[in-house]
Amino acid sequence: TTGSGQLRPDVAAAVGELAAAAAADGAGQIGANNGYRSYDLQVRTHDNHVRNEGQASADALSARAGYSEHQTGLALDLVACAPCGGIDAFGGTAQGAWVAEHAWEYGFIVRYESGATGISGYSPEPWHLRYIGVELAAAYHAGGFHTLEEFFGLPAAPDYIG
Ligand code: DAL
Ligand code: ZN
Repeated sequence: TTGSGQLRPDVAAAVGELAAAAAADGAGQIGANNGYRSYDLQVRTHDNHVRNEGQASADALSARAGYSEHQTGLALDLVACAPCGGIDAFGGTAQGAWVAEHAWEYGFIVRYESGATGISGYSPEPWHLRYIGVELAAAYHAGGFHTLEEFFGLPAAPDYIG
């Protein structure tokens, strides 16, 4: 793994089960990247994006501090191994395809799917998983949902207020 290496214990256990199942299915090894991020780390992460890409692109790729799921310990980014690639490559790998199909069985959803930017505010991130627990993830899957906003009946959140 690379990055913070920290998650809530139940989430860490669930991602361990997910990775073991992917390997057992022949989809290959999965590594965890960018688990829990503190407020200060989110400030630095987002500031780097603003410096490199400008405010609008940064906001489509990275949450402003105070708004990231990474700050909750319930989200993490996945990479395909080994050798481990970067998060941007994950969507095109066998591991990425397996995760898109099976993550819900382990309590996770792919939080930022393609086609949902107008609702979530973020560009597609096939590598970013959000833990919602097995029961909710099964309902999310059965209902054919693609955003947590719609699943929870919340308004679209494409931008920041003010
Ligand atoms: N990249 C996701 C949106 C985050 O910064 O939380
Ligand atoms: Zn992420």
